[in-house]
Amino acid sequence: MRTQVAIIGAGPAGLLLGRLLERHGIEAVILERRSGDYVLSRIRAGVLEHGTRELLNACGVGERMEAEGLPHEGTEICFDGVSHRIDFRALLGREVMVYGQTEVTRDLMAARAASGAVTIYGAEDVALHDLDGSAPRVTYRKGGASHELTCDVIAGCDGFHGVSRRSIPADKLRIFERIYPFGWLGVLVDEPPAAPELIYAHHQRGFALCSMRSATRSRYYIQCPEDTDLDAWTDDLFWDELRRRLPQAVAEALRTGPAIEKSIAPLRSFVAEPMRYGRLFLAGDAAHIVPPTGAKGLNLAVSDVQYLAMALAEHYRDQSNAALDAYSARALSRVWKAERFSWWMTTMLHRFPAFSSFERRMQVAEFDYLRGSVAASTALAENYTGLPT
Ligand code: FAD
Ligand code: DHB
Repeated sequence: MRTQVAIIGAGPAGLLLGRLLERHGIEAVILERRSGDYVLSRIRAGVLEHGTRELLNACGVGERMEAEGLPHEGTEICFDGVSHRIDFRALLGREVMVYGQTEVTRDLMAARAASGAVTIYGAEDVALHDLDGSAPRVTYRKGGASHELTCDVIAGCDGFHGVSRRSIPADKLRIFERIYPFGWLGVLVDEPPAAPELIYAHHQRGFALCSMRSATRSRYYIQCPEDTDLDAWTDDLFWDELRRRLPQAVAEALRTGPAIEKSIAPLRSFVAEPMRYGRLFLAGDAAHIVPPTGAKGLNLAVSDVQYLAMALAEHYRDQSNAALDAYSARALSRVWKAERFSWWMTTMLHRFPAFSSFERRMQVAEFDYLRGSVAASTALAENYTGLPT
């Protein structure tokens, strides 16, 4: 088979890139290791930046998001029981959209199916070849048979554990990484949210987050040690621990029920530079990871593929490689700002077992400054609702 752009991975990065390329008349084939149902079963991010929402609308996949998503004009930051609301609308005239990654993925899959663009699910042993030449290839197995896809360019959108980044010679990549000594234990429940807006809470026992998916479905997270055994956390233990970490009024309003999903996500900051090797371009989690505090992961995947789609459009339209050559530097400039924000939110709001009393005072001072300063609150709002692309 031959195509213009071979996209590895049908997560949000791969599917949205496919959609954007379609709008530019560029053909792409997506190879995904898992089934479509499996991809949709992964519960992940929930907050879309202002620009992500605009882009989904501009490429014709925003209809259900606009109908069912929840626009939020602010969020609550709570520190040892003291609450401070960040009012996005008053500070910046902006909002974010609460709409799950699963739903974004579902909408993109439906649009792709309707347009007849090719996605090959269940593609095993995907391998990338001849990346440094002018005729890259992708091989894979499906249904016991071997296949080959030739193309002009490969987009590595296959997440942190994918094959794309690993296909780049180690001496061509520079890795920057920080691993945090804890994870997030997340629970999804079919009960109304405890509060109308998201609450990020710092507590002596650890961080907690109240989020939601709809008026009747809530998503909660608590910080847990890195070696936590998921099975040891019964629903009751989770609810008890969450309540302890929330302001009293929110804890009292919390509606609990059986968890419909429960999982642990490790926390990591990671960047691979550059986001390109020859004809392979990395986008999304394949190139970088942020800790989830601040909800940047999905939104960064979106801004990467927005840059990449524009660069590919220029390549095919004008026979120019200028934007493709600039892609990595352009994407990384935004990536590092999101890395900084996610690291900062994580550091202020979590309990770090190894922190000295000085570092704990720094956390208190960060929150105090935020609470007392319109400038600091505006900076948070600007980063949270999304820096310009
Ligand atoms: P992914 O969504 O990881 O998609 C990559 C796709 O590539 C997958 O479908 C995968 O099956 C496929 N693939 C992998 N390897 C191969 C291969 N060899 N061949 C073919 N296909 C392959 N962000 C937040 O903002 N908030 C959150 O609460 C949050 N929670 C998260 C929880 C977990 C467990 C994880 C892993 C991430 C979470 N994130 C969260 C981050 C956010 O979900 C990601 O940033 C986002 O999914 C990135 O999209 P992506 O398309 O780049 O990668
Ligand atoms: C959600 C996840 C986040 O990481 C975040 O900062 C806000 C919300 C969520 O899953 O709803």
